[in-house]
Amino acid sequence: MSQTSQFASSTRTIPQAGDVPRHIAIIMDGNGRWAKKRFLPRVAGHKRGVETVRKVVRACMDRGVEYLTLFAFSSENWRRPVEEVSFLMGLFLRSLEQEVARLNENGIRLRVVGDLSRFDAPLVALIRRSEQLTENNARLTLTIAANYGGRWDIMQAVNRLIVAHPEKAGHYQEEDLAPWLALAYAPEPDLFIRTGGEQRVSNFLLWQLAYTELHFTDVLWPAFDSASFQRAIDSYRHRERRFGRTSEQLVVAAPVSQADGENA
Ligand code: IPE
Ligand code: IPE
Ligand code: MG
Repeated sequence: MSQTSQFASSTRTIPQAGDVPRHIAIIMDGNGRWAKKRFLPRVAGHKRGVETVRKVVRACMDRGVEYLTLFAFSSENWRRPVEEVSFLMGLFLRSLEQEVARLNENGIRLRVVGDLSRFDAPLVALIRRSEQLTENNARLTLTIAANYGGRWDIMQAVNRLIVAHPEKAGHYQEEDLAPWLALAYAPEPDLFIRTGGEQRVSNFLLWQLAYTELHFTDVLWPAFDSASFQRAIDSYRHRERRFGRTSEQLVVAAPVSQADGENA
């Protein structure tokens, strides 16, 4: 079996970039601190965070963003207290149950990426049903990364590639691996946002962030509002995405993909 992807790697070809990011990836961080500041249990912050998800999905639709990827639970978050982990699982299930019909009505395609083998069967079944229900929608692809880890992703892709193409061992190229990655259906993120003040990637999309613009904000996820979202978009607009070239080259560059090594 061979895999193909319509999207090339940003280290091989230069993607077309406009004022509005096609793909935004977000680490939704700071729920616990938001709750603590209000003398509430940490889980109250997670609950409030779901409301921010709704608002950000709406804001992406309004602006014509095509892909939104949200880090909901990392492969390292199992290290948290068992009560918090089970609350998060329950919240994921309830939110899916409550929201999927509305996502579908709004033309949103839902996808979940990550190692689902550790999730309870009813949650996995609901995830698959929700993905199927929304699979023909094309307005916005909303991806939830759940039990996701960037290293897990690279390793599962490597393992599947080797099984599919043992004859190429020792000669694999970037293009061979990319289609096996969990987000092969999406272009690489243009804009990465992390709320909550930490400036780290925490094992999120390691491969896919090669040329993504990074935006860190101290705003805690439950407090991330439309003004905060607009600030992230504005900051993106002012970036000069050079992809290895010089600033001078960009002035004359045609706004089409340029193959590696060609003069822009
Ligand atoms: C992010 O908020 C949500 C998840 C990781 C599930 P946190 O729960 O990490 O909140 P802080 O960082 O402790 O404030
Ligand atoms: C990253 O947040 C994971 C998610 C938002 C799902 P964490 O709060 O778990 O990250 P660290 O532990 O501070 O790096
Ligand atoms: Mg955190």
